[in-house]
Amino acid sequence: MFDPKDIRKDFPILSRTVHGKPLVYLDNAATSQKPRQVIQTLVDCYELYNANVHRGVHTISVEATERMEEARRKVSRFINAPSTEGVIFVRNTTEAVNLVANSWAMDNVGQGDEIVVSEVEHHSNLVPWQKVAHQKGATLKLLPATEDGRVDLSFLESIITQHTKLVSVVHISNMTGAINPVKEIGRRAHQVGALFMVDGAQSVPHMPIDVCNLDCDFLAFSGHKMLAPPGIGVLFGKVSILEKMEPFLRGGEMVREVWYDHATWNDLPNKFEAGTPNFTDAVALGAAVDYLDGLGMDAVRQHEIDITTYALKAFAELEELDVIGPKEAQDRGGLVTFTAGDIHPHDLGTFLDSEGVAIRTGHHCVMPYHRKLGLVATGRASFYVYNTNEEIDTLIQALKKALAYFAHAS
Ligand code: ALA
Repeated sequence: MFDPKDIRKDFPILSRTVHGKPLVYLDNAATSQKPRQVIQTLVDCYELYNANVHRGVHTISVEATERMEEARRKVSRFINAPSTEGVIFVRNTTEAVNLVANSWAMDNVGQGDEIVVSEVEHHSNLVPWQKVAHQKGATLKLLPATEDGRVDLSFLESIITQHTKLVSVVHISNMTGAINPVKEIGRRAHQVGALFMVDGAQSVPHMPIDVCNLDCDFLAFSGHKMLAPPGIGVLFGKVSILEKMEPFLRGGEMVREVWYDHATWNDLPNKFEAGTPNFTDAVALGAAVDYLDGLGMDAVRQHEIDITTYALKAFAELEELDVIGPKEAQDRGGLVTFTAGDIHPHDLGTFLDSEGVAIRTGHHCVMPYHRKLGLVATGRASFYVYNTNEEIDTLIQALKKALAYFAHAS
């Protein structure tokens, strides 16, 4: 087990102040901070081997290509992908879902078919499927959530039917924090012959993930939530499915041969990586994976259970606060979403900022489920490897101050 206090020195930003107070960064579900090891990897890329990949015979192009492919091997191992061919570099989770929606669903979903998501989805795992359903005459169905914001398994059989072509579900909700029973959902999807996709944006950075064990057909995640830069993410797909899919974007690098009137496609994964890829950030993602591997993903998960347990207990002592999602830390990722009576979360977030505490406020790109709960916005504190119980204490002190201030103001 690592001590978060020991690793904080790796994250330069954590020693800065905000409004004269030490930064307490609790907005990790939105994006994580970056360790020196990742930052230095980027510097090395630009200072030592910056050249276009997969194209040159000159030394630094070959070196850049090798670094990018090494990063792909690291990512493959990290999620236990059977091969690197199924690990496609994209910009982020959103792009990965759009890739599957356009390249698989547009060709395989038709009139009368069904696509199933849950009612707690992030917009990125909802809006792309809306387009498929509208254009193809298919129905978009919702798996209802339990009171604590987790997919309700009692609806699996009635919602996922012989008409279902694809089920795509968030693994850990960025709003309720609930860990969804994705294996069970995937099993039901496969029972009816549907494909199964997992939105791993909030799970891959925070817990051990094994795509073979999950038996998902697709998994999407973003680098920037797991210590890497923004603009690099991953779509994992089963090779047998990816091979049958048409490319998403067309142009350079994704082709084998081109004539004036037609073209043939490159092998996986290049078929889905049109144009010059974001190779520097891919290499930095490899460095982020090294960093997380060094901590150990079991230890990362345990740290988040510990800090979330501590936070949930502290939140429970403030009676003005209502926490959304599962009661037990074991059932959730490292985040706590809450409301504070009539205080608008934006006001609360601004007050906390004045104390140096960064949380996210708003609908967190989960507007429909907020609406269902009768909420416009919530506050959310989200944790990562470098967060400490002392920072939770600072958050709680700041929340107490805010509650007293707004009680007085009203
Ligand atoms: N999806 C990210 C969040 O939940 C941006 O904050």
